[in-house]
Amino acid sequence: MRPALPTETPIRSASDPAAIEDAAAILDAGGCVAVPTETVYGLACDATRGDAVAGVYEAKGRPRFNPLIAHVDGLDRAQRLVDLPKAALELADAAWPGPLTLVATRRANTAVSDLAAAGLETLAVRWPRSDALTQLVKRLDRPLAAPSANRSGAVSPTTAHHVKDSLNGRIHLILDAGPCPVGVESTILSFIDPDRPTLLRPGGLSREEIEAVIGAVTNPVAQPTAPTAPGQLSSHYAPAAQVRLNAEAPHVGEAYLAFGSHTGSGAEHCFNLSNSGDLTEAAARLFTGLRALDGKAETIAVAPIPDTGLGEAINDRLRRASAIR
Ligand code: TXA
Ligand code: MG
Repeated sequence: MRPALPTETPIRSASDPAAIEDAAAILDAGGCVAVPTETVYGLACDATRGDAVAGVYEAKGRPRFNPLIAHVDGLDRAQRLVDLPKAALELADAAWPGPLTLVATRRANTAVSDLAAAGLETLAVRWPRSDALTQLVKRLDRPLAAPSANRSGAVSPTTAHHVKDSLNGRIHLILDAGPCPVGVESTILSFIDPDRPTLLRPGGLSREEIEAVIGAVTNPVAQPTAPTAPGQLSSHYAPAAQVRLNAEAPHVGEAYLAFGSHTGSGAEHCFNLSNSGDLTEAAARLFTGLRALDGKAETIAVAPIPDTGLGEAINDRLRRASAIR
């Protein structure tokens, strides 16, 4: 039997060994625990148990066609789950643990539940830079499925309190390690065609960093109508406010998500992603900034963000936030 849900979900320090022990026991019993990673907080469960995965879908209110990432504690476990071609191994070697997810053909008879993989023949695997998640995988000796720890369609959480705001009473425990240093989700790269690594979702590891290790990567050919690929619902990372992109300056009454020298002076509500125009800092502050401005005005105008490095992931999330819904 899965553990009963608490009315008030506790937040405990991820560096407290007793909290890790309790988290492991909850996961072992099929419950769900929010765990910090370098990108965003994940809602972890035992990836091998359909009932545990169903519990995560239920907590998030997530559409079921979205497959989950299997989180691992190293390359060995990843290779037991999927068939990684040489380029993927080189990249994992260079970037793991880190903000990179690899999609590849699933091995026969992997223990990962069909519900976690959404019935696909492929599987997404990632070794995050997270002591808590790595320890938990080791203790359970099983991969942990972990989507971002927010209600489906909402902005991803980068602090334990974001998680609590969104999922209080719907999950068993929240482990807290402070704000996530990267702040946008992992980059997802598909090796389903081993000769054509394909960037399914820009994220915390930039295209440039990937290409420096394995050469050119391609973009998906077309947006699939049935989203077998990541966050492809066009409106996904959505604040309640309307979002207007590439705004050199805010219009009267708009809140402004500023960047560098586009400071939005005059706006009543303004949040600068990075005063110095640093894209890494801006990624780490993106979801916090959207949350800070949401509810302050009908429209959030967003400063132009360069499309290089982590700017590609930032712009991808912003385009989704601005999609008509
Ligand atoms: O940074 C991250 O990746 C965070 C942390 C918690 O690890 N996780 C995360 O999970 O962002 P989630 O579920 O919010 O997004 C995972 C994306 C989904 O959009 C899903 O469609 C895609 O990965 N995905 C999972 N398995 C896939 C597969 N076999 N083929 C293509 N896309 C896949
Ligand atoms: Mg998500």
